[in-house]
Amino acid sequence: MTPPEDYITCMQELAREAGTLLLSYFGKVSVEYKGEADLVTEADRASEKLLVDRIRKQWPSHDLIGEEGSRKETGSHFRWYVDPLDGTTNFAHGYPVFCVSLGLEYREARIAGVVYDPCRDEMFAAEKGSGSRLNGRPIHVSKTTRLAESLVATGFPSHKRHNNPNVHFYHQITLRSHGVRRAGSAALDLCCVACGRFDAFWEFKLNPWDTAAGVLLVEEAGGRVTNFSDAPFAIDSSEVLATNSLVHREILHEFSEIFAGRVEGLPSAMEYQRAR
Ligand code: IPD
Ligand code: CA
Ligand code: CA
Repeated sequence: MTPPEDYITCMQELAREAGTLLLSYFGKVSVEYKGEADLVTEADRASEKLLVDRIRKQWPSHDLIGEEGSRKETGSHFRWYVDPLDGTTNFAHGYPVFCVSLGLEYREARIAGVVYDPCRDEMFAAEKGSGSRLNGRPIHVSKTTRLAESLVATGFPSHKRHNNPNVHFYHQITLRSHGVRRAGSAALDLCCVACGRFDAFWEFKLNPWDTAAGVLLVEEAGGRVTNFSDAPFAIDSSEVLATNSLVHREILHEFSEIFAGRVEGLPSAMEYQRAR
């Protein structure tokens, strides 16, 4: 097998090039709809084309899955996951929180991941067994030990959002932590766990291209990633909980309480209105 070192430099060059391309479209694109509130832009497609053309040229035998429809599934031991623009809704509204995410698997194990934030020129990169880096410097998860002292992040799907219970989790974890951020890019949320800005991140129903790179970044930075039942994260998991490992059990416990309906109430809007 070719060692991952041969990939990571190339992946960073590719992600930087695609991120620069995204910036050239930023503030200039019109929005199209893939679903009721599921947006796509010309920039998503241009970035995917750039990335996929390069990967296909350089590694023609590798399999590949890109969010905007690129597919090659021939049973290769190598598989790429390409999110050409993670944070499309932010991008479409001119909110500068978005990135390019590239994950690479070998025999179904994550071996390399790169996430590039072009607005901050931040390059997150991880190789299996070699740690995680931000702009070349090693990064580590935080040392926070209690949820009550944690800054946490989550996200909400744009697809089938009426079938998603996450707002209840948002409510409860907000009441038990320093706060819950919802910045709109799952890949960057995972990177923020990897470098200790967030102590934890969870989301329902993410896709493999959202998580393939970020999960490796968290693991290689000393964190832990599972589903909500504490089973190891799998690329097709519909739930992801990524933490600094120290607050993992406590958050899983809170989730089981929420699933069981043992939750803290708030005044209803009607009660609030009556007391105004
Ligand atoms: C979305 C972002 C968002 C998350 C959604 C994803 P996209 O990806 O990662 O933070 O909450 O679930 O679909 O559509 O911008 O690539
Ligand atoms: Ca995404
Ligand atoms: Ca995307």
